[in-house]
Amino acid sequence: MKLKLKVLAGAAALALPVFLFTGTADAAKSDSCAHCHGTDGNSTSSAYPSLAGQTREYLYRQIKAFKEGTRKNSMMSPAAVVLSDQDAQDLAEYFSGQTLVRSTAKTDPAMIDQGKKIAFEAQCVICHQPNFKGLNEFPRVSRQKYPYIVKQLKDFRDGARVSDIMGPTVKNLTDEQIDALAQYLTSL
Ligand code: HEC
Ligand code: HEC
Repeated sequence: MKLKLKVLAGAAALALPVFLFTGTADAAKSDSCAHCHGTDGNSTSSAYPSLAGQTREYLYRQIKAFKEGTRKNSMMSPAAVVLSDQDAQDLAEYFSGQTLVRSTAKTDPAMIDQGKKIAFEAQCVICHQPNFKGLNEFPRVSRQKYPYIVKQLKDFRDGARVSDIMGPTVKNLTDEQIDALAQYLTSL
C-alpha cells in the first residue's frame, strides 16, 4: 500500500511537466483527438478509450484499421480517414509517451476476484504481458476505461470487431464474465 501511494504521488508530480515539455508538432496534431481522448490521452469520458501509455505499435495499427475500414466506429472512423501515414506514426508516438492515470471506475471486489480467475485460466497475460501492460501489437488493457473494455470484449465475441486472435478467445464468455474481466482490468 505504501509503495502504491508513492508511485501515485510520483505520477501526479510528473503529469504537468510531461504535458508542458511535449509541445511539439505531435502535440499539435493531437488537438483534434483531445475532445474525445483528452489532451494527454487520458480521456475524461468513459465512453472513449484512453490512449496514454498504450503501445506505439498497437496505436499505429488501430489508427490504420479505422482509416482503412477494417475496424469501424461512427465517431472514430471520420477522425482517422483524414490522417496521413506520417500523422498516424506521429500520433502513435505522442500518445504512447504519455502517462496513463489510474481508473476511477467503481468496482466490486468480488467481481475483480472473479475476473482475475478467468484471466488466469484463459492465460491472457501470455499476450498482454504481466500486469496487462502490453507489448508491441499486444495492447495494454490495464487501467483502461471500464465501459470501453466491456464493449470491446462483446464486440469481439459478437463479431462487431474482427480479430482472429481475440474472437476465439472470448467467444464462450457470458456477459457476467465479461463484466468481471472488465472490472479486474480497469482496477489494475
Ligand atoms: C468524436 C470522438 C473521437 C475523436 C475526435 C477521436 N476519437 Fe479515437 N476513438 C473514439 C471512440 C468512440 C473510440 C472507440 C471505438 C470503439 O468502440 O471501437 C476510439 C478509438 C480510438 C483508438 C483505438 C483505441 C484502442 O485501445 O483500441 C485509437 C488509437 C484512437 N481512437 C485514436 C484517435 C486519434 C489519434 C484521434 C485524433 C486524430 C482520435 N482518435 C479522435 C472517439 C474519437
Ligand atoms: C494470443 C494472444 C492473446 C490472448 C491470449 C489474449 N489477447 Fe486480448 N488482444 C490480443 C490482440 C492481438 C489484440 C488486438 C486485436 C486487434 O488487432 O484488434 C487484443 C485486444 C484486446 C482488447 C482490446 C484492447 C483495446 O484497447 O481495444 C482487450 C480488452 C483484450 N484483448 C483483453 C483480453 C483478455 C481479457 C484476454 C483473456 C481472456 C485476452 N485479451 C487474451 C491478443 C491476445
